[in-house]
Amino acid sequence: MNRLAGKSALITGAARGIGRAFAEAYVREGATVAIGDINFEAARKTAGEIGEAAYAVHLDVTDQASIDAAIRAVEEKTGGIDILVNNAALFDLAPIVEITRESYDRLFSINVAGTLFTMQAAARSMIERGRGGKIINMASQAGRRGEPLVAIYCATKAAVISLTQSAGLNLIGHGINVNAIAPGVVDGEHWDGVDALFAKHENRPIGEKKRLVGAEVPYGRMGRAEDLTGMAVFLATSEADYIVAQTYNVDGGNWMS
Ligand SMILES: NC(=O)c1ccc[n+]([C@@H]2O[C@H](COP(=O)([O-])OP(=O)(O)OC[C@H]3O[C@@H](n4cnc5c(N)ncnc54)[C@H](O)[C@@H]3O)[C@@H](O)[C@H]2O)c1
Repeated sequence: MNRLAGKSALITGAARGIGRAFAEAYVREGATVAIGDINFEAARKTAGEIGEAAYAVHLDVTDQASIDAAIRAVEEKTGGIDILVNNAALFDLAPIVEITRESYDRLFSINVAGTLFTMQAAARSMIERGRGGKIINMASQAGRRGEPLVAIYCATKAAVISLTQSAGLNLIGHGINVNAIAPGVVDGEHWDGVDALFAKHENRPIGEKKRLVGAEVPYGRMGRAEDLTGMAVFLATSEADYIVAQTYNVDGGNWMS
């Protein structure tokens, strides 16, 4: 259980949810992990709870200066970055005729530009160091097909799958593997928010949407963050060296592609 011994990772949006579970799993495998999050207090608390191998870094993936400072902080703390997980993202929901430019700009700025420019900054650092690296982007089943009320989020996650393909092809020449994970429905604070939005737009009681999506998963329940850590660890190890530009569904059978 030391498959990431000596590795330095940065996980964006890791103060809670899936990113936090990844940080815990990476630390268990021997890595040192930067918990990068816009909510610095929560990141500090999470890092403190995980233990000495985790530390908090303030990071707003919509701000280039913040991205550059976070990469510098990781370099200073550990000598360089081996693994980046682009996990920070926002969700929103509205019928097409009610979508606002504000929501569009916010989601694309975090989910797409945030992923691209954090990936770029990490790749520059990895190339300069000359040891290659692993970049894992968080896509979604939402990026595999549209949903009637989820146009913007679905489009951002389709963009993440596409960016993973282009960056994967471009960076493998530097020994940097770029791949992505597409979860299905994963219970947690994120889905509490999603459930509340569906309750409003589909006129449902709180909790009903969660029950429905969970019942539809072929595996028989919603995912848990821990269901995704196996793939996140595997893609960060040398066992995944020959895997390039792919997006893996880890979703209990929700989607096949
Ligand atoms: N939960 C699901 O069902 C699900 C399904 C498919 C894909 N995903 C994807 O998995 C990833 C993690 O999801 P989650 O459920 O853990 O989400 P979450 O909402 O629980 O956590 C997101 C984290 O990102 C941080 N964040 C928000 N804006 C940021 C910014 N500008 N810069 C840095 N950090 C920022 C938040 O503070 C939070 O800690 C996301 O990319 C999400 O789209 C989640």
